[in-house]
Amino acid sequence: MTLQLRVYVPPHPLIKHWLAVARDAATPSVLFRSAMTELGRWLTYEAAREWLPTQEATVQTPLDSSPATLIDPTVPMAVVPILRAGLGLLEGAQTVLPLASIYHLGLVRDEKTLQPSCYLNKLPEKFPPQTRVLVTDPMLATGGSIMNAMAELTQRGVDPALTRIICVVAAPPALQKLNDAFPGLIVYTATIDETVNNQGFIIPGLGDAGDRIFGT
Ligand code: PRP
Repeated sequence: MTLQLRVYVPPHPLIKHWLAVARDAATPSVLFRSAMTELGRWLTYEAAREWLPTQEATVQTPLDSSPATLIDPTVPMAVVPILRAGLGLLEGAQTVLPLASIYHLGLVRDEKTLQPSCYLNKLPEKFPPQTRVLVTDPMLATGGSIMNAMAELTQRGVDPALTRIICVVAAPPALQKLNDAFPGLIVYTATIDETVNNQGFIIPGLGDAGDRIFGT
């Protein structure tokens, strides 16, 4: 698979550890949620590199003045969790991006056709220019859901080059679709698993993330 899309798998022991916890079928729901929170935190931290807008300033230390770099509070920041499972990554993402606005997007796949349908859309009619958007969804499988989400975002003025996707397990069909439509996009994932089975599950994957987060 040759991609223009940039897909980063950060080689970080904390990301590897929490991925292993999430993969383990014996992990109970309460610990699975912790794993998602931690993965949300560290993947957002990685995604923030060269993405968070900064401004140069001067601060007064107790002894002297010093040049300083601060987050630019004037650039709009948004997090778009794809419900339900994307909610699992949200709390960790918010610890890194406390000022971001949260826009929920509820998508569910039909179990037979694997086509997503939207049951909740809290996106604004138009995003302000230059908005940085972080999309959270732990699973990118066939890619139907993330493509639907990206279409909703770009229709509302979001620039794919200013968008980052964080996910836990990404599969080639989803990455190929994103690449073909949004080559400037950047994805941060804990791992890439090669196979999506006929039921739309990533193999080995981690099962149904939404079911495991919420125990339903
Ligand atoms: C899962 C997952 C992704 C989507 C990935 O959600 O969380 O959103 O499927 O599959 P795709 O790439 O083939 O579209 P699901 O529809 O099961 O809803 P849930 O989050 O409510 O469990």
